[in-house]
This record gives sequence, structure tokens and C-alpha cells, in this order.
Amino acid sequence: MGKGLDAFIKDYKQLLEKELRTLLEKLEAPKEVKDAMLYSLEAGGKRIRPMLLFASLDSFGKDPRTGILPAAAIEMIHTYSLIHDDLPSMDNDDLRRGKPTNHRVFGEALAILAGDALLTYSFQVVGSIPAEHASDAIKIKLITEMAKAAGAEGMVGGQTADMEGEKRQLSLDELEFVHIHKTGKLLEYSVIAGALIAGANRVQLELLSAFASHLGLAFQIRDDILDLEGVEEVLGKPVGSDTTNHKSTYPSLLTMEGAKEALQNHVFLAKQALSKTGLSTSLLEEITDLVASRDH
Ligand code: IPE
Ligand code: IPE
Ligand code: MG
Ligand code: MG
Ligand code: MG
Repeated sequence: MGKGLDAFIKDYKQLLEKELRTLLEKLEAPKEVKDAMLYSLEAGGKRIRPMLLFASLDSFGKDPRTGILPAAAIEMIHTYSLIHDDLPSMDNDDLRRGKPTNHRVFGEALAILAGDALLTYSFQVVGSIPAEHASDAIKIKLITEMAKAAGAEGMVGGQTADMEGEKRQLSLDELEFVHIHKTGKLLEYSVIAGALIAGANRVQLELLSAFASHLGLAFQIRDDILDLEGVEEVLGKPVGSDTTNHKSTYPSLLTMEGAKEALQNHVFLAKQALSKTGLSTSLLEEITDLVASRDH
């Protein structure tokens, strides 16, 4: 606590990456699938979702390290979603986190299996949280909410609506549905998982959910903007993928200026919700600014 965001991210990224390696080493599985899993997990990435979980715990004055296993689990689910999102049958992209996409290196079949394995392992990992960090009741809540955030009611539902949207221009409401689900739900879960471990009350959970859902929208609007304005070498993924795939995006619906206004509006609303929690939210606020201004 009391640290600025840069130092916080540096320390906790290191902790997370060490844990991810340890967890992968523990897997008793064919080398092929472990290699494919590790390739994408170790390719880098901002680790924003784990940072949100740690910062959420910090806002309650709790030790962020108590969230290491759910943080690792969330990053596994996120990484699986990227591997599958890049497949030829989905966005058909060749570059991710500055490296060739998983299927370009390991082939489509292994990329699908590596994604499946990361998703399922994440549940095993949350199931192994020690009793001193979460009671059985909290663990069941963590697992249930994680399934909702990742599955058809969450990310998978959003990815489905995103694919449907390639065939036609979505309305703004429909596009908001896509963004809230494909990106927002997992970001929201990251914040809520920290709050559940910290023993948050109902009002705090509601305010943090509102905060995170605006943050999620801001995050994906920024992603849409970067698909047009980003620099491939900095972004670590192709620029112009949405245009090639005829995606409905915030800039395509609202113009670039309108998308930037919408982004700022969600940042404002996110911070407003945060300020009502009565918690020590400086790190969560700083992450919000980072999300809005990021260049990768
Ligand atoms: C990219 O997520 C996919 C979206 C949900 C927009 P990130 O921008 O968090 O990707 P990494 O983890 O840093 O590579
Ligand atoms: C996908 O959104 C979000 C996921 C659930 C993976 P995008 O397709 O816009 O993500 P990027 O731009 O490829 O990272
Ligand atoms: Mg996509
Ligand atoms: Mg994509
Ligand atoms: Mg994108």
C-alpha cells in the first residue's frame, strides 16, 4: 500500500508471472500442450486483469498476495480467449503480444487445445485457493462468478454477438452489449474477485461492479481506437484487423471524435462510482487513467 501504480505493477507483475510459470510446471500433461499454453502465457501482455484484482484487494487494505491464485486463473482465461479470438475462423490474426499467434506456431488443433486447457485449468487453480485466503463459501462464489464472466453469459456471449455483427452494422445498444460482454465481464470479475476475498459488503460490491462495467467499456473503446490509430510494433497485434473483418466498432459507429468522447464519459462514470465506495481507491483510479490513455 501507499505505492504508486508503476511500482505496484512492477512488483505484482513479477509475482504473477512467477506464479504462472510454477502453475504450468505443476501440470502433468503432454509437452505439446504445455508448450503451447506457456508460449501465449509468457508472450507478455499488460496483465491488467490481475492488476485490477490486486488493486481491488489493496483498496480494502488487504494484502494483494492473497489474490495470487484467482489472478493467475483470470490471466489464463484471458489468454485462452486471445488464442481463440485470433484463430482463422474468428479474427484470423497473425500477431499477438508482439509474437506470431499461437496457431501460427503450433497449428490450429493445438491452439484450440491449449485454449481449452488454459480455461479448464483456471477452475482447478481457483479450487486450490488455501482456506486461510478464502472460505469454501467464498471459493464457490469465486468459481460461479468466474464461470458466468467467461461463459455464454459473459465473454463467450460477447464474442458470439461480435461475430454476428460482422454481417451487418450493429446499433449502438447492440455494440454496447458486445463490448460489455466480450471484454467488460472479465474485467468486472477481476475487481469483484478481489472484493469477495476482501469481504466486501453488498453496497461495495454494487459500486465496484458499476465502476468496473464503465472501465470495461472504456477499455474496449480504447481497443477499437487503437485498432485504427495504434502502431503495430507498440500494440503487439495487427492494426486494422477490425476494418478487414468488417467489425462494428465505436469509431465506425460514432466517428473517431464520438468514440473518444464516449471513452471519456465512461472514465468519468467509472471514477464517480469509485469515489462513492469509501475505500482507498487510488490504484484503481490510476488504472482507469492508464486504460483510457494506453497505447498498447
Ligand atoms: C486484448 O486485451 C483483448 C481485449 C479484450 C480488448 P488486452 O489489451 O488486455 O491484451 P494483453 O493481455 O495486454 O495482451
Ligand atoms: C476480443 O476483442 C476480446 C476477447 C474476448 C478476446 P478483439 O478481437 O477486439 O481483441 P483484439 O483486438 O484482437 O485483442
Ligand atoms: Mg475479436
Ligand atoms: Mg481480435
Ligand atoms: Mg480489438
